Amino acid sequence: MNSRTTRRPATPRLAVAVTASASAFLLTACGALDSVAGDDSSTTPNKRNDITVGLLLPDRDTARFDKFDYPLIEKHVKSLTAGKGKVVYANAEASATKQNAQMEQMIADKADVLLVDAVDAKAIASSIEKAKAAGIPVIAYDRLAQGPITAYVSHDNELVGEVQGRAIVDALGADAKSSKIVMLNGSLPDPNTARFKQGALSELKNRVIIAKSYNTEEWVPEIAEANMKKAIAALGVDNIAAVYAANDGIAGAAIKALKDAGVAKMPPVTGQDAELVAVQRIVSGEQYMTVYKPFPQEATDAAELAVAKVRNSKLRFDALATETVDSPSDQGIPARLVPVVALTKDNIKDTVIEDGVYTVKDICTAAYKADCAAIGLE
Ligand code: GAL
Repeated sequence: MNSRTTRRPATPRLAVAVTASASAFLLTACGALDSVAGDDSSTTPNKRNDITVGLLLPDRDTARFDKFDYPLIEKHVKSLTAGKGKVVYANAEASATKQNAQMEQMIADKADVLLVDAVDAKAIASSIEKAKAAGIPVIAYDRLAQGPITAYVSHDNELVGEVQGRAIVDALGADAKSSKIVMLNGSLPDPNTARFKQGALSELKNRVIIAKSYNTEEWVPEIAEANMKKAIAALGVDNIAAVYAANDGIAGAAIKALKDAGVAKMPPVTGQDAELVAVQRIVSGEQYMTVYKPFPQEATDAAELAVAKVRNSKLRFDALATETVDSPSDQGIPARLVPVVALTKDNIKDTVIEDGVYTVKDICTAAYKADCAAIGLE
């Protein structure tokens, strides 16, 4: 384990994850901010609204980055700055080298603050040092980058893994102990991968048989599919009782490999990110669950922290960054950790629909109409 979170909630962690309503949380967070609004007295007038936020996201294989994180952050920066703030966006397309170059360009262009979701948490540290030397604060977004960062906005990522692992144990019920499962983990340079895996193992170890376990370089679904094929060849397609898939891209790949191999009954497959195609697979029963990490909240909080930092608004900043985490290079990093929710057939309405991530129309296209009706999604 390479990072530590302090000040965890007192409520049992799984209970929080499964029951918390993302929208209820949104209201709480807004309330907290309202109470400190207007505390920008120390700001130089020209930096109140004329702010450039550099946003660096890691890849395009996972839909959330281009589809949600970027537009949501941009929208919120604009709304906080009377339309005057700018977001300059760069996607690293899974290349750590490219991401370092992108960050250095943003430093040269004198961005006011940088938000970085690192491809490789360690490799980005040298560019973060350069930002610091240039007086540009860097906030780690979703993945805990190493180096002198100002803050971290993410989720309790170990809890994400716990929620996934627990879902498998629950789905297997009395048969769990004798069931063989396959683990398809994420990309190793992504620090979240170890956290997801550690959380999942805390639920799975000694409760199921982990027959095969693989990492997925750069989270590429085709790599996950090739690994799943290897597992099927070694174990036999109908001897796999469940698949731990670290995210929805990997879940889709595992399901494809199982179908191509002629699986008699689809075993429970986990996921993460609540991608639209994954929610549709959950509706039709192909995918068992996903972890919904409320993007609107994470993105809004990141935008808020970035703007507060540039404006030097300490009260606003501290109202959001209420926890601290340690990275392998730094201790006591102010952090904002947004709760996560297990998404199954039973709570699609209370999560992604209620938060406006998708409409019923988005999910219930012609192919899913009947399945949607069967679970009351109309
Ligand atoms: C993780 C992130 C996930 C997922 C994955 C794939 O770090 O937390 O939401 O998208 O990367 O890139």
